[in-house]
Amino acid sequence: MKIVIGNDHVAVGLKNSITAYLENKGYEVINVGTDSEERTDYPIYAKAAARRLLGGECELGILICGTGVGISLAANKIPGIRAVVCSEPYSARLAREHNNANMLAFGARVVGTGEAEMIVEAFLSAKYEGGRHQRRLDMISEIEREAAGK
Ligand code: RB5
Repeated sequence: MKIVIGNDHVAVGLKNSITAYLENKGYEVINVGTDSEERTDYPIYAKAAARRLLGGECELGILICGTGVGISLAANKIPGIRAVVCSEPYSARLAREHNNANMLAFGARVVGTGEAEMIVEAFLSAKYEGGRHQRRLDMISEIEREAAGK
């Protein structure tokens, strides 16, 4: 499975650790984040990661900034992106099973490497359950269409 990963300057170290963790498990990682700790702006990387995902290059995405909040907010502005901020594995698993989230965000200033690996593992190993959840996701898509004036 291919995973796109995007991050700002705060999250370079955690991005590198998570990339190594994923590659060790056999995932292919596409890095669209910054590799420099020079101050930059997280929307750049949210957009780059979302574009790769929606372009079909990869199945899921991981976004990391200081809190995971800014970078997920930016990604969620792009129709078709369902990005969630998770600081523990339970929400990450349910975000896939119930919400069919396609991007996982977390904060390099919030979680340590071990917790981040557990969150990533929970997200990537869970499967969307469909069924009763699809109606709610269709309602979210309808909100997107309405907001776009379509
Ligand atoms: C950068 O200082 C910080 O604001 C950013 O990484 C993120 O936490 C924003 O939500």
